Amino acid sequence: MISRDTIEEIRNRIDIIDVISDFLTLKKSGQNYKALSPFSNEKTPSFFVVPSKGIFKDFSSGKGGDAISFVMEHEKMNYSEALRYLAKKYGVEIKEDRLTDEGKAEQSEREGLYILMNFAKEYYRKQLTGSEEGISIGLSYFRERGFNDRTIEKFELGYALAGWENFSNEAISKGYNKELLEKTGLVVKKEDGGTYDRFRGRVIFPVHNISGKVIAFGARMLGKDKNQPKYINSPETDIYHKSDVLYGLYQGKNAIRQHDVCYLVEGYTDVISLHQSDVPNVVASSGTALTEHQIKIIRRFTENITVLFDGDSAGIKAALRGIDMILKGGMNVRVVLFPDGEDPDSYSRKVGTSEFQKFLKDHTQDFVSFKAGLYASEAAGDPIRKAESIKEIISSISQIPDPVKRSVYIQETSQLLKIGEPVLLTELNKILIQERRKTDKEKSRERPEELTPLELIENTATGSKLDVQSMVQLQERETIRLLLNYADEAIDEQKLTDFIMQELDDVTFTNPVYHQIYDAFRKGVLEGHIPDSGSFLTGNSIQEVKNAVTELITSRYDTSKYWSDKFHIYFPKENEIVTELALSNVLRLKFRVVQKMMEENLLKVKEAENIGNWDKLDEALIAQTGLKDAEHELAKLLGIVVAK
Ligand code: UTP
Ligand code: MN
Repeated sequence: MISRDTIEEIRNRIDIIDVISDFLTLKKSGQNYKALSPFSNEKTPSFFVVPSKGIFKDFSSGKGGDAISFVMEHEKMNYSEALRYLAKKYGVEIKEDRLTDEGKAEQSEREGLYILMNFAKEYYRKQLTGSEEGISIGLSYFRERGFNDRTIEKFELGYALAGWENFSNEAISKGYNKELLEKTGLVVKKEDGGTYDRFRGRVIFPVHNISGKVIAFGARMLGKDKNQPKYINSPETDIYHKSDVLYGLYQGKNAIRQHDVCYLVEGYTDVISLHQSDVPNVVASSGTALTEHQIKIIRRFTENITVLFDGDSAGIKAALRGIDMILKGGMNVRVVLFPDGEDPDSYSRKVGTSEFQKFLKDHTQDFVSFKAGLYASEAAGDPIRKAESIKEIISSISQIPDPVKRSVYIQETSQLLKIGEPVLLTELNKILIQERRKTDKEKSRERPEELTPLELIENTATGSKLDVQSMVQLQERETIRLLLNYADEAIDEQKLTDFIMQELDDVTFTNPVYHQIYDAFRKGVLEGHIPDSGSFLTGNSIQEVKNAVTELITSRYDTSKYWSDKFHIYFPKENEIVTELALSNVLRLKFRVVQKMMEENLLKVKEAENIGNWDKLDEALIAQTGLKDAEHELAKLLGIVVAK
């Protein structure tokens, strides 16, 4: 039981932005911050933090609350665990209401597991540097692998003595109970009821969760014994779910965010060697195939993954498997292939830090050229193999959720393989349609209402079905109509004219006639008198302006009387709903303007791609993402559903 005073003290010191930033990449958005929801697999941010109120709200999952509830949700902690975590972060000393020896028995099981795992970690560390066996066997092995003291500290490496019960005896003498020992997996129960230590005579790699607590161990054997597995890993427990954990994330998360790229390697030693080569932005999925959830976790820190793999065939196979999954998760994926027989660990030690970093830089390729390269030698002169390699690449491209990115990769493939884009697009659309049919079938079984319309690449690559320019003008027309008819109407305690001028500050009207009228209003507002609609009809306005104004001041909605007479329903008069009209008009206009900008920017993407200007391409793609976000935000405000 943490005391009230302590809780109060923790609450006083919490800064919600600081707390959440340890887990998510927050982007400033006006007074508030936003991020991709950690609770769902979304592509546009719907997770908001309001620092002035100390709260977060996640619109995709509906979750919300203060910093403490965020830590609880995100780290799957209970209230007291979250408080302890925050107390540690902010250096608050915890005072308990009840005594701890009684508390020990009361502690939740998870808390007990954490404590025991931490105890074990410290124990193994002590053996590594403080016992004769640890020094002569464990430490000398790490030295042989080139690990220095700082690295051994940073990863809290340890050594488990060779005897059968060294650890159990120590833990029991310190008062930990047998049942808990078995639950951590550190101790294994025999059929006859006796127990023995799981890790013996091995070097120890602790696995940390994202906040730095030890949740599992990997134990590597020393020397070569064909009858033993090279690694023995902790079993799954209440605090360790293998598929949710990335080795090295705790040590590397800040670097991943800073460098905006995450290197993905195979195992413990690769992660550690990369740190020693000053490449700390690295994680490993530790022996298992990368999972969707692991990709989602990385995505909280960066959208770029670079997969580092051995050049042997097993390594290539693993790389291929990973690529499609990462693409499907909406991330950008690049690949570095090491020379045959080398892995990141061995190679970095062989060539040294600066050479290794240069190698990474020079050998990073995107997945299309990686795949094309794989098949190039086989495919040369063999049309059937060539067709297969095209299918392979297109099938990866089809995994990418973003159509803009898809079209860029189609162009690259076209150039690399010297095949026309239309052929590739046909192939791609075939796959997309098949996939969509499959998911629709599944969905219609579960939730028939969620069927999504088919959106093929032509729509986004070569102009959409609707003519965006006319949509923009339609909204410009409505703005002018509102100004002409309701200039003085009150909206939000200000005049409609002021409201519109303020909202559309950064919008330039495209239709020259509307532009001219709008400008007259703008000038008028600045000079302190709003033009009377009549003034446009007299004086020196051009004929087009006069025509437009005439049309707009006579086109009012006259339906209300008709509806109320015919159906006996009250229909608000237009000036009663002018607030709503003005609000939705400015949103709609912005929405259409953003869509138009997206179309124009897409041309830049194509152009940059054609002339091979990668910086410009990057810039245009980033701009496109920003516009897409804006589009979604406006659409949400308008209640419009836009296809992602
Ligand atoms: P490696 O065989 O490359 O491990 O396995 P290593 O320690 O780097 O071995 P050497 O020194 O290069 O020969 C890569 C990863 O696969 C997992 C571990 O996570 C390891 O880090 N693995 C491997 C296991 O879980 N169990 C095993 O038996 C082998
Ligand atoms: Mn290795």
